[in-house]
Amino acid sequence: MFSPSSFLAFPFLAALPGTFASFSDFGIPSSSATVDVKAFHVVDFTLANLTNAFFSPVLPGRESITLPIHAFLLEHQPSGKLFMFDLAMRNDPQNLTPAFAAFFTGGIATTNPNPFKDITQLLTEGNVTLDSIDTIIWSHTHFDHIGDMSKWPSRRNIIVSSQTNLTLFPDAQGSDLQASDLNGHNVSQVDLTSSSLVISGMNAVDFFNDGSFYLLGAPGHLEGHMIGLARVTPTSFIILGADTAHNLGVLRPSGSFQSNNPCPADILSSTTSSISTDFFWSANTTPGHFDLLSRTQPLLAISDLADSFFVDPDAGQLSAAKLSALDADEDFLTLITHDASLDAALPLFPASLATWQKDGLKEKLAWLFLEEGNPAFLFSPANGSVSSHMHPGCTDAQ
Ligand SMILES: *[C@@H]1O[C@H](CO)[C@@H](O)[C@H](O)[C@H]1NC(C)=O
Ligand SMILES: *[C@@H]1O[C@H](CO)[C@@H](O)[C@H](O)[C@H]1NC(C)=O
Ligand SMILES: *[C@@H]1O[C@H](CO)[C@@H](O)[C@H](O)[C@H]1NC(C)=O
Ligand SMILES: *[C@@H]1O[C@H](CO)[C@@H](O)[C@H](O)[C@H]1NC(C)=O
Ligand SMILES: *[C@@H]1O[C@H](CO)[C@@H](O)[C@H](O)[C@H]1NC(C)=O
Ligand SMILES: [Zn+2]
Repeated sequence: MFSPSSFLAFPFLAALPGTFASFSDFGIPSSSATVDVKAFHVVDFTLANLTNAFFSPVLPGRESITLPIHAFLLEHQPSGKLFMFDLAMRNDPQNLTPAFAAFFTGGIATTNPNPFKDITQLLTEGNVTLDSIDTIIWSHTHFDHIGDMSKWPSRRNIIVSSQTNLTLFPDAQGSDLQASDLNGHNVSQVDLTSSSLVISGMNAVDFFNDGSFYLLGAPGHLEGHMIGLARVTPTSFIILGADTAHNLGVLRPSGSFQSNNPCPADILSSTTSSISTDFFWSANTTPGHFDLLSRTQPLLAISDLADSFFVDPDAGQLSAAKLSALDADEDFLTLITHDASLDAALPLFPASLATWQKDGLKEKLAWLFLEEGNPAFLFSPANGSVSSHMHPGCTDAQ
């Protein structure tokens, strides 16, 4: 929107919320209250032959997928209060509810490393006491987001959506949650169905009533699925996109993403041959020569298979489109929980992400998912190690 040099020439303009920033176009009120954001990459997990439950198309050799699991520590700057957005997964997966434990005991899901340090260990080793964090937001109740609440001090405030299904196993066999996930804690449900505030088409709640942090209803993946929207400076934001998408190809590129965040020449050039024209097309694409610049729609679609990891694929696609509109704007940095492209450049805890815009982090991260060899690059057929995980005779599963 403005170059760093013009920004420096008119520093007083930065103090006028809304002067340049486009957040008000999305329905976000002005505020100078902010939160700080720090990211943890807790563990990676691999799911054998399940890429197609996340998105399509799935190219030959890409049937299995390895995804990182991130968790986020936030600090409400006006009060100094610490809170978490998601906790990644417990490190004893055999103790998940049976439906999820079976993924691990049956060898469909594996973690790397195994065993691993869970978020309570990572926080403690990082000199953040669990006592100092009294509020934990669960974007949704899947095992890879709820951590292990039995390891936390009692009376944590667990925040979920009013649409979250809080039924416990074994009362209902298929439940995500069991008593030990909630015992001794204080669960609050945020009403994201009838809010007067709407941000980029999503129902929103101003979590601290000061404009520093919003929860947005983003249905589709699971009942009650929420996005976090953190204001890290008065005019720049980090979107904690949770599981709205599992690869940035579900959000990018859009036409406005391309014009606001131009693809670096080296990646642009590599995509002409790396992106398979048997599966992806654009106005100026010819067989064997992909043209990224004329691609105006995201590359991937939410899975609508019967066994999709989206309970409502149509709602999920719509939520992705609403997130994609924010993602295209240069004042928003999108961090989705399972984005495998983040590894290459995202500073992790104890680094603060509040200065992402000044640091040019979005420019560094924006197109890594289309760099051949990046773990998020799934846009050409592959063979070898990926598909060998599926071979019945193969014993390399960890
Ligand atoms: C992978 O999933 C597809 C679709 O669900 C199925 O047809 C195929 O048999 C599976 N392959 C393996 C090796 O499990
Ligand atoms: C935690 O504290 C220890 C001991 O003071 C120190 O060595 C370490 O660097 C600290 N870690 C972080 C992330 O602050
Ligand atoms: C909540 O989840 C349980 C377990 O999967 C299911 O039996 C129940 O129907 C769900 N309730 C609602 C309101 O969807
Ligand atoms: C439990 O959560 C409610 C709603 O957020 C809050 O009003 C109450 O103070 C909390 N109770 C405790 C013991 O923290
Ligand atoms: C992968 O595919 C290429 C091209 O079809 C082939 O040359 C190569 O041998 C394959 N590698 C493996 C490990 O199967
Ligand atoms: Zn997840």
